[in-house]
Amino acid sequence: MSQNSALQELLSEIKKKSKVINDALNSLGFGEPKGLYEASFHLIKAGGKRLRPVLTLLSCEAIGRDWKPILPSALAIELIHNFTLIHDDIMDRDEYRRGVPTVHKLFGEATAILAGDTLFAKAFEILSRCEVDAKNLVKAVEIVADVCVKICEGQFMDMEFEKREDVSVEDYLKMVEKKTAVLIACSCSLPAVLYGEEKYVEPLWNFGLNCGIGFQIHDDVLDIIGGEKIGKDWCSDLVEGKKTIVYLKAKELGVEIEIFGKGKASDEKKRKAVEKLRECGAIDFASKMAREFVERGKKYLDVLPDSNAKDILLFLADYLITREY
Ligand code: IPE
Ligand code: IPE
Ligand code: MG
Ligand code: MG
Ligand code: MG
Repeated sequence: MSQNSALQELLSEIKKKSKVINDALNSLGFGEPKGLYEASFHLIKAGGKRLRPVLTLLSCEAIGRDWKPILPSALAIELIHNFTLIHDDIMDRDEYRRGVPTVHKLFGEATAILAGDTLFAKAFEILSRCEVDAKNLVKAVEIVADVCVKICEGQFMDMEFEKREDVSVEDYLKMVEKKTAVLIACSCSLPAVLYGEEKYVEPLWNFGLNCGIGFQIHDDVLDIIGGEKIGKDWCSDLVEGKKTIVYLKAKELGVEIEIFGKGKASDEKKRKAVEKLRECGAIDFASKMAREFVERGKKYLDVLPDSNAKDILLFLADYLITREY
């Protein structure tokens, strides 16, 4: 098979999986009051890459199991992700996501808080629908709940770091592990937990955790150089004063970023900041670090038997840090 047609096959497999997820998400019924459900499903309907639930279905295939009985776990993960996005946009004061206005911008902060809470609770109800051994299901609930606590810890650290001048690279890595990587780790290892395939739980967790750290580092890069394609506010991290790895590196190099922590900035000033961050090498530094984490993550899949699903997982790992949005 030519390299190009092999790639086409991988892409079509990923598309098929995200269609499964989208169809299942679309079949989740709206309740009353309508306004609450409109707010809750606003971002879900706007799209999104569906990376986490696709990773769940692929990880399930990669351990040789049928994903149909555990499809609810993939949906639960996507609902939790969307819950965190709704609340994250309030915390980060962002106005755009997935190319549309954020939930709080459209429906107000109070409703956005409730919309997030609704998805959060719904996720656990849906997770409980997995048709597996009850003992494994309880274990999965415990893990997902713990992951949600860790996301809150990470999000708190993210905000706390805005006020601190002594944030180290180690602090940053701990923060992104909690706010982002644990959910990706969970997405990958949940099928092994649900099916009681104990030997695969840890390798898949570590695969997702390391790739998830790389993913967030790349997200921090895209905030600066992603342009309109990312469908989110440009240079939000810089104006909000986020201690991203790009900023930390620039600071170490003695590069001053005028708009940092200023709350808002003109496009002209943002362009200047981007130029400076590029020139000093902080962006390249971050991209290299993202690559290192993904390479480390990929090694954990060595224990899995060869399969098409494993190849796609490895391909997606690279995509996490090469994606344009
Ligand atoms: C955005 O995640 C939030 C982060 C953890 C950086 P994604 O980039 O996966 O967002 P969607 O779901 O595709 O919109
Ligand atoms: C998001 O980090 C992490 C969570 C949503 C838990 P960011 O704040 O960088 O995500 P984006 O850039 O807004 O998607
Ligand atoms: Mg944000
Ligand atoms: Mg944030
Ligand atoms: Mg970001």
